[in-house]
Amino acid sequence: MDYKKQYIASASRYDEGMMNYRTCGRSGIRLPEVSLGFWWNFGGVNVYEDSLAKMTYAFDHGITCFDLANNYGPPFGSAEETFGRMYSDNFRAHRHEMIITTKAGYNMWEGPYGAGSSRKMLITSLNESLERMHLDYVDIFYSHRYDGFTPIEETMQALVDIVRSGKALYVGLSNYPADKLTEAVAYLNARDVRPLIYQGKYNMLTRDVEKAHLQLCQDKGMGFTAFSPVNQGLLTGKYLNGIPADSRAALGHHLLSSMITPELVDKLRALNSVAEQRGESLAQMATAWVLRRPEVTSVIIGPRTVEQMMDSLCALNAAPFSDDEICLINEILAR
Ligand SMILES: NC(=O)c1ccc[n+]([C@@H]2O[C@H](COP(=O)([O-])OP(=O)(O)OC[C@H]3O[C@@H](n4cnc5c(N)ncnc54)[C@H](OP(=O)(O)O)[C@@H]3O)[C@@H](O)[C@H]2O)c1
Repeated sequence: MDYKKQYIASASRYDEGMMNYRTCGRSGIRLPEVSLGFWWNFGGVNVYEDSLAKMTYAFDHGITCFDLANNYGPPFGSAEETFGRMYSDNFRAHRHEMIITTKAGYNMWEGPYGAGSSRKMLITSLNESLERMHLDYVDIFYSHRYDGFTPIEETMQALVDIVRSGKALYVGLSNYPADKLTEAVAYLNARDVRPLIYQGKYNMLTRDVEKAHLQLCQDKGMGFTAFSPVNQGLLTGKYLNGIPADSRAALGHHLLSSMITPELVDKLRALNSVAEQRGESLAQMATAWVLRRPEVTSVIIGPRTVEQMMDSLCALNAAPFSDDEICLINEILAR
């Protein structure tokens, strides 16, 4: 279906019960509990109409936050191009209702300046992202990672200058070790550019941020947005009985089939039983499990299809976890 010029946003998108919004740290911004991520399923290799169907479904259901990065695709840059086309053709009138993010820090172009967190990389990359997305500014610009060699002061001063240039309203940080995050936040705060949010991987199988980052964000008044809530599909029903041909693991898209060991499948089956007892799919339970933490502002989902998005969005209506359920889940995860 060609949605060009035909999309009219649903009038019920902000109705009670459609989406919940959580305040992002100590800020005036509220983010939807579920954000839509563009890492892998919106690239040049994907069918444009499928991307548009997901984007319109998301917006019609109260998703106002769209998470991009310079190198999302594949190929690199193409997810921003897809977004730019959808935005120009269908969403321009809704710009003030949208939180649009992008990032720079990982590999993007060839040569010595095409990756990392230097001033050269961040500012050049943001200019190119804005062009691809047909935007004058993004709402949040992230330093995508601490690269281990660029001095924190250089990266943070680039973020300060980006905000002062008007090309980003807020800045965020992603994939920083806790000590470097602390340094970065201090630098930004001292220059009155308070970092809005931290973006980290958080799901039942990847809990590193529980050690320090969640608390740190709360202490510093930053929001926390969790990516990969279903761990790229592992925390769904799809790998319980083999590896489906169209799955990320079968296609070798960042998830290797070798990671799906019999021990892991046993664990996933046990988690799936808990989800069944709760009357939920495993994806719904996994997403609700991330949202159970008050420090989490939003989870960024990366659905390949509208059906997957519909499934994950049901997590918004999930029952709270009982203490017994949390204990059982922890026991399964520790096996
Ligand atoms: N800051 C960072 O460094 C960083 C890193 C990674 C991601 N992110 C952000 O987080 C977003 C989400 O990451 P992600 O793609 O890893 O998220 P994810 O939602 O954990 O994984 C997405 C994959 O899981 C499967 N899936 C999702 N929902 C499903 C459902 N309800 N039922 C069955 N399968 C389902 C699909 O796999 P199949 O394709 O196999 O069907 C889909 O491609 C990204 O788009 C990006 O915006 C940020």
